Amino acid sequence: MDNDLGEIKAILKKYSQEHLLNGYDKLDEAYKKKLLEEISEIDFELIKSLYEKTKKEPEVNKDEITPISYLDKFKLGDKYKYYENIGKKAIKEGKLAVVTMAGGQGTRLGHDGPKGTYDIGLDSHKSLFELLSDYIKSEGKKYGVTIPWFIMTSRENNKSTEEFFEKHKYFGYQKNKNIFFFIQGELPMIDTEGKILIGEDGLIKLAADGHGGVYESLVKDGMTEKMRELGVEWVFIGGVDNCLVKMVDPVLMGIAIDKNVTVACKSVVKANPHEKVGVFCKKNGRPNVIEYSEITDEMAEATDKDGELLYGESHILCNLFSIDAIERMGSEPLPYHVAFKKAKYIDKDGNLVVPDSPNAYKFEAFLFDAFGEVDDMAVLRVKREEEFAPVKNADSAGVDCPKTARELYKKYYNLS
Ligand code: UTP
Repeated sequence: MDNDLGEIKAILKKYSQEHLLNGYDKLDEAYKKKLLEEISEIDFELIKSLYEKTKKEPEVNKDEITPISYLDKFKLGDKYKYYENIGKKAIKEGKLAVVTMAGGQGTRLGHDGPKGTYDIGLDSHKSLFELLSDYIKSEGKKYGVTIPWFIMTSRENNKSTEEFFEKHKYFGYQKNKNIFFFIQGELPMIDTEGKILIGEDGLIKLAADGHGGVYESLVKDGMTEKMRELGVEWVFIGGVDNCLVKMVDPVLMGIAIDKNVTVACKSVVKANPHEKVGVFCKKNGRPNVIEYSEITDEMAEATDKDGELLYGESHILCNLFSIDAIERMGSEPLPYHVAFKKAKYIDKDGNLVVPDSPNAYKFEAFLFDAFGEVDDMAVLRVKREEEFAPVKNADSAGVDCPKTARELYKKYYNLS
């Protein structure tokens, strides 16, 4: 242990992070061990380079951005049934699994607990998790299968998420048989001087590494292996906060299989050319999603010969992958994006600091940054009112909030 401590002190000195051991002597033995373990797992070179990135002006984008082609689910004509039959067959054969990403912090919603446990105010008072579970189970029934459900949590919310599921008897699922939990990766948070923060528990202040962490953790945590054992070939990955997410879509699956692509994504058309959403495109000839802030007004407004926006297909975090694609994406590091957030921490004198404005950098990978790993993918435009009811903000924001999601949900399911 002393030896380890000596080595760790040397590393911390090299990277000017010696303050991480300020509270070490006051910790009990288990926490001392844990802190040293956490420190030894930090990639200090990565943290240094991420900090340097926060100080740099954003680079001028030199990528060549071009439109991506897409199919409209409701303009497929005869092909609709054709794709649907292919997809239905694969679902009946047990080839589909669903992943729900529930590792986010849900800071905008401000709910005290994992976002999936949130009750959007339906008469049934069902949580987001239960609404998703109802949907997956009823779809499974249609095809005579139980669709395996994989839930990604973070270290921060894993315990409360699992306790919630246990309390609700896993909504009829069986743990480690057809419902599985896995924990996504994390990165330390740093202050504006590049110093890694210590959290209230005296350990490193870690934050989930973004939804882009899903590929690596699916592989590392043995989930892709588990899927293969279950005979799964296709995996729908979606967020926990869209109560209308349609995870079981035979048309989408049929297109992926028929067109022999390893990724198939759903889009909804932008509400207006300047809606603040990421849109599907090609970046240097490869599939990608570009943020609204990265395209010019001219590009945002450009239309094709039919009057459709060239960059109008919004990414709604509804994507289908082959297991091979997930494994490929999980083996390549994704770029990290920086977010400036409020984070409680223990200062160098051992006092708890509760900031009232952002004070710390958090680093997140985005799921769509991996799209360029594949040569081609299919984009399927679906109807917003059928598939997209996000719960992002508190009701006071008036958009993408429980109230708007509840109204959309009720309308779709014909509830009064
Ligand atoms: P958002 O990007 O909307 O983030 O996540 P969020 O954490 O829910 O909310 P804010 O930004 O803190 O207010 C979209 C989806 O990706 C998941 C979320 O749980 C949500 O389902 N996600 C996000 C993760 O699973 N892990 C992450 O690290 C980030």
